[in-house]
Amino acid sequence: MNSYKILEEKIKACRKCHLRDTCLQVVPGEGNFEADIMFIGEGPGENEDKQGRPFVGAAGKFLEEMLSLIGKNREDVFIGNVLKCRPPGNRDPLPEEVKACWPWMMEQIKIIKPKLVVLLGRHAMERFLPGQKISKIHGQAMRREILEIGKQVFYVLYHPAAALYQGSLRETLKTDFKKIPKVIEAIEKNKENNLDNRENRERKDGRNRFEEKKKQEALF
Ligand code: URA
Repeated sequence: MNSYKILEEKIKACRKCHLRDTCLQVVPGEGNFEADIMFIGEGPGENEDKQGRPFVGAAGKFLEEMLSLIGKNREDVFIGNVLKCRPPGNRDPLPEEVKACWPWMMEQIKIIKPKLVVLLGRHAMERFLPGQKISKIHGQAMRREILEIGKQVFYVLYHPAAALYQGSLRETLKTDFKKIPKVIEAIEKNKENNLDNRENRERKDGRNRFEEKKKQEALF
């Protein structure tokens, strides 16, 4: 069994909080565990709980439609949620439930090593980029260092369900979504620059380190 499958089995067997007593099944996430892009929502809803798969309702349909805009389908990416079990009646999760589930998310990112983590909606955003406003940072790539996973690039989108309720967000979401390939390109270019910079640094014996670091961060 590969390391992702081992992790998935552990997630499915999790009993670290009480949500497992009321949900029908655990929804660990699905897709390509070697994907460049990982989409993360807040938690399973009723449909996801019934089917054991993330984003299978109306919001999921819209997500699939947007994936097709960039020439991808569900199998090309990884789709998951911060919470793996549905809170009863879709209530907001309690802090202790989020805390119990968080290490699974960290383990998933560590194994999948996506180039880009796309945060769907303000709840998912708040977990990774606390204190930000989605109206301000949607459609922007941000790099953040997280203790468990190190530096990671995040990209924030409005939640597909929000766009279904609020029609005006639909076009914004599609416009932001279509920028994803360019963000990936920038990440790859930045990585090359980092390697070049490392070689340069080694050659220059440590000179100008600060200037080079500033340039890299400015890309995002
Ligand atoms: N909304 C989410 O945040 N996640 C799902 O899996 C479905 C709807």
